[in-house]
Amino acid sequence: MLNIAIDGPSGSGKSTVADLLAKQLDILHLDTGAMYRACALGAVKRNIDCLCEEKVKDYVKDIDLQIKYENGRQVTILDGVDVSKEIRNNEVSLMASNISSLSCVREKMVEMQREVARLNDCIMDGRDIGTVVLPNASHKFFLTASAEVRAERRFKELTEKGQTVDFEELLKEINLRDYNDSHRKIAPLKQAEDAHFIDSSDKSVEEVVDFIISIIK
Ligand code: DC
Repeated sequence: MLNIAIDGPSGSGKSTVADLLAKQLDILHLDTGAMYRACALGAVKRNIDCLCEEKVKDYVKDIDLQIKYENGRQVTILDGVDVSKEIRNNEVSLMASNISSLSCVREKMVEMQREVARLNDCIMDGRDIGTVVLPNASHKFFLTASAEVRAERRFKELTEKGQTVDFEELLKEINLRDYNDSHRKIAPLKQAEDAHFIDSSDKSVEEVVDFIISIIK
């Protein structure tokens, strides 16, 4: 199986890059962040505190979460409902960062992710793919960009959608999530020793994709 791991902080462009790569290579793209986001959304809907291990454990052991593909695009289904859009809101982002720090959640998600990689050629993006989920991945990449550049990208994305956002607030949120993701005890965001490091601050999406393709080929 061809298994490609891309890790990096939020807003580094992992998902966009992974989507384009998956199309070019004609393989699946599993956005693992979507799975943690769906867990968080389900917990919030049940009024479960995303940091309460005991309650989250009960909930996550029977979670009804499915990942499907429609025309090559990942669709995240929670409790039988397509939540692909709903999981992208800001509240869910922060809750996902909290719930992903719990071992009961990570164990369950990692099991599901490994099953996808066992059955399919795929490119998986997340925080711990190269270090924990697929330590034997065929190729590993660590994609990052400065916090300011990532906040600018998010600012542009949201204002283009017509939303009013405060740049400083976005930057603060990115720094907070970076801190949470890289300081948690289990599977923190970390570059695998054998991963290629890419700083995309001054690179276009196409440049990053071309670089990755050149390494894979
Ligand atoms: O990539 P994202 O922003 O959609 O991820 C949402 C949250 O999930 C993020 O705060 C970190 C967490 N996450 C994780 O802990 N491990 C992964 N493999 C993917 C995401």
